[in-house]
Amino acid sequence: MELRHMRYFVAVAEERNFTRAAERLCIAQPPLSRQIQQLEETLGVQLFERNSRPLKLTNSGRFFYSHAVQLLAQTAELESMTRRVGNIERSLSLGFVGSTLYGMLPKIIRRFRDENTTVELSLHEMTTMDQISALKDGRIDIGFGRIRHEDANIRGVVLREERMIVALPVGHPLSVGKPVLALRDLINETLIIFPNAPRPSYADQVLSAFQERTLKPARIYEVRELQIALGLVAAGEGISVVPSSVHGLKRDDVVYRELDDPTLVSPIIMSMRMLDESTDIHEMLELIYRLYEEERIPYIFGELLCYPS
Ligand code: BEZ
Repeated sequence: MELRHMRYFVAVAEERNFTRAAERLCIAQPPLSRQIQQLEETLGVQLFERNSRPLKLTNSGRFFYSHAVQLLAQTAELESMTRRVGNIERSLSLGFVGSTLYGMLPKIIRRFRDENTTVELSLHEMTTMDQISALKDGRIDIGFGRIRHEDANIRGVVLREERMIVALPVGHPLSVGKPVLALRDLINETLIIFPNAPRPSYADQVLSAFQERTLKPARIYEVRELQIALGLVAAGEGISVVPSSVHGLKRDDVVYRELDDPTLVSPIIMSMRMLDESTDIHEMLELIYRLYEEERIPYIFGELLCYPS
């Protein structure tokens, strides 16, 4: 029995008529009838009731039909999956910290996929520190994080320094006064920081910003992640210092204010294995710089700070 027999049988069973089935299959009726006869002989059972008009399946026919349909669907899936595997030449695994999703990461992923259709891209949310071990184990090829690290086997490229901004509950006194705030303006507030673990994290960059200026917020409230910090800000539980790309995450109950100090920044770092010189890594870096130029986002190239015109 061949797949062709099953396809012919399914067409006849669904059309309940040899003429219509032959038309659907684009073959003449006599060879179709012969194929069905052959199939019944091979199986040793009758699949259609004799002389029924329209054609009716026997019990064996109904059983065979339900399994033949499944098998044909599986065959079609196998064909398309095999074609896909054949077209995929390389794979690239990306690790990223959640907050980079509010920045350029979605655009980078979309553009990379469009421009590199034969590369299978997979994405894994993980902390910067987990990215380092995942890079060493070969579980990821590129990591996007925010923490500077010193590891002899890992190369970190600072892509840009993202300004920090303040998230305030709508109607908060600090949101109605000055359009630009200083860190000092925040010291009487509850500062909501994230992520609380593992450390060091973005939370420590915010805390260091206060410490370096010998400032101390009235209260510190540590939470697991950015979304929770913003929810608590919305609830009036405190304020939070967030990367400026979070501004794109519009909420009716949260307002954002810029900070006056341009040195209040959090880096976005691309990490890779020290000896990895693969084309995909180069493609990715080149694409990111190109997107920064297109979107007019200041970035760091080598040691240089570049301002797209
Ligand atoms: C960015 O926002 O600049 C960015 C985010 C993720 C990966 C690379 C760049």
